[in-house]
Amino acid sequence: MSKIILGIESSCDETAASVCIDGKIASNVIASQEVHQQYGGVVPELASRAHQQNIVPVVHQALQDAKIHKNDLNLIAFTKGPGLLGALLVGVSFAKALALGLNIPLASVNHMQAHILAHFIDAPHPKFPFICLTVSGGHTQIVLVKDYFDMVVIGETIDDAAGEAFDKTAKIIGLPYPGGPLIDKYAQEGNGSAFTFPKPNIDGYNFSFSGLKTSILYFIRAQTAINPNFVKEHLPDICASVQHRIVTILSEKLEKAAKDYQIKHIAIAGGVSANSGLRTALEKLGKQHHWSIYIPKFEYCTDNAAMIAIAGYHKLLKHDFCSQQVSPLARMPI
Ligand code: KG4
Ligand code: ZN
Repeated sequence: MSKIILGIESSCDETAASVCIDGKIASNVIASQEVHQQYGGVVPELASRAHQQNIVPVVHQALQDAKIHKNDLNLIAFTKGPGLLGALLVGVSFAKALALGLNIPLASVNHMQAHILAHFIDAPHPKFPFICLTVSGGHTQIVLVKDYFDMVVIGETIDDAAGEAFDKTAKIIGLPYPGGPLIDKYAQEGNGSAFTFPKPNIDGYNFSFSGLKTSILYFIRAQTAINPNFVKEHLPDICASVQHRIVTILSEKLEKAAKDYQIKHIAIAGGVSANSGLRTALEKLGKQHHWSIYIPKFEYCTDNAAMIAIAGYHKLLKHDFCSQQVSPLARMPI
């Protein structure tokens, strides 16, 4: 008998649903919420309302694209956390109601684990144990992945996440939210050595990005006081220099972790893994250290439900289900 899973993701500002059939993704639907752009960041209350509006059509589309009927489903997997509580509540409540109506089990999924498990959507799959640099809008972690659901965080940010460093820089230089992809785009035309930004002095595998953000703010303020058109005239070089610094901070720690743990299977995951500078840096490091590197397809880097559905598939294989009493968690360790 086929194993058919519906995955639902609603932790932040994407309402997403995906169908996984026997470990293969059969549909992957995402409704992005444009409403936040004018506010320069995600407004939690507006995110919850948009999820309410989007969830039924998004799930409907995911079933239709996969050419299956809801009665064919064997499991509903949903993001339990971490994320915005009001946003998570929409996905969790919907998943619970649908599972109850269809009389099928539910599986709760940790969003950050799911970003890592996105590597099991398409072959080649990383071999356990591997190290994954998980970089998103809310998290920056180096994770030792021993098995599908056996993961240990060996380093993480002590303040801002890497995605926040991109987004806050974008805000400082007047780019709309989310700024990460735009910084990446302009950086491709710029010189990463044009301006030098400081590197934080943090021991071990932890990260810090708040000092970098402050130094960028002071630098832009000082330069704009001299030349009001500074940002406009130097946009690609500013973006390339900021990106270069963020990427070197990330890759140096990743290199250290791989060396100390003597692991040669290295992956990246999360929204910032879509960054072209980070992808190129990882490819370079892979060649240099003879690593097998794993970089997700673009559509599986940023928030999506295919990663929730594949996590659900591996939970189904283990009969790891949750009860109807489950509640979302804004904070949820890996
Ligand atoms: O994983 P994700 O979609 O959502 C969270 O779970 O946070 O990550 C979103 C983050 C945002 O900060 C966004 O600016 C960043 O990923 N991002 C990028 C790129 N694409 C998305 N940052 C740098 N370069 C990109 N190409
Ligand atoms: Zn995410």
